[in-house]
Amino acid sequence: MIVLRTEKEIDLLRRANQIVAETLVTLADMVAPGVTTAELDKAAVEVIHRLGGKASFLGYLQYPASTCISVDEVIVHGIPGRRALKEGEIVSMDVGVLYRGYHGDAALTTSCGKVDPVRQRLMEATDRALACGIAAAKEGNYLQDVSRAVQEVVEAEGFSVVRCFVGHGIGTRMHEEPQIPNFVTGKRGPKLKAGMVLALEPMVNAGTHEVKVLDDGWTAVTADGLPSAHFEHSIVVREDGGEILSATPKRIWGRLKDS
Ligand code: CO
Repeated sequence: MIVLRTEKEIDLLRRANQIVAETLVTLADMVAPGVTTAELDKAAVEVIHRLGGKASFLGYLQYPASTCISVDEVIVHGIPGRRALKEGEIVSMDVGVLYRGYHGDAALTTSCGKVDPVRQRLMEATDRALACGIAAAKEGNYLQDVSRAVQEVVEAEGFSVVRCFVGHGIGTRMHEEPQIPNFVTGKRGPKLKAGMVLALEPMVNAGTHEVKVLDDGWTAVTADGLPSAHFEHSIVVREDGGEILSATPKRIWGRLKDS
């Protein structure tokens, strides 16, 4: 069953997601050559706690950190540690927050210094694919319309959509029904209703969509070692499309695109 949230609940979900957004902005500002992924994780915890939230990834299925920081060929679930960022890499940052019983979840990818045109295009295509998925998340559409919208943008750029990880419903639990593939499966899925809250999260690879999970049991890397990007927003389905709950301040997008 997919829960329909009341406006009061949506308000709390927005607050949880605003803590996520504030955290992502802080991390994006820190990205520079030499910064370690553990330093980003530490900074995230400080922001989350200062704003009254709790990092929801920590301990989830025994995940050992508060954020996922996935550099370059790492698709998702990168465990923060001693890896230092290098000029030319792209960095995906995924943050989850529990606030007054409600979950926020969002992610973005940014560049460390100057990146090559493929990485730049990869980030932009993934961001745009997410935006198209959000636009398709409107009452009366089927879930598959969202998946198709995402996949079309990605494949038109010659990139590939990761199959083995998907988006999800979100609310009083971090993962709720439905699962949200970023590709067409052939099943149209549930009909979308206003008040459904969904975390859309396309993971897009420059090369093959195949994934390898490292021995730590978490770190998911591209099978061919080529880079991967990840953007995620928590949204609420409305009559005219998805309303973003985890919106980051506009200035950041301007700055990130320029840098
Ligand atoms: Co998620």
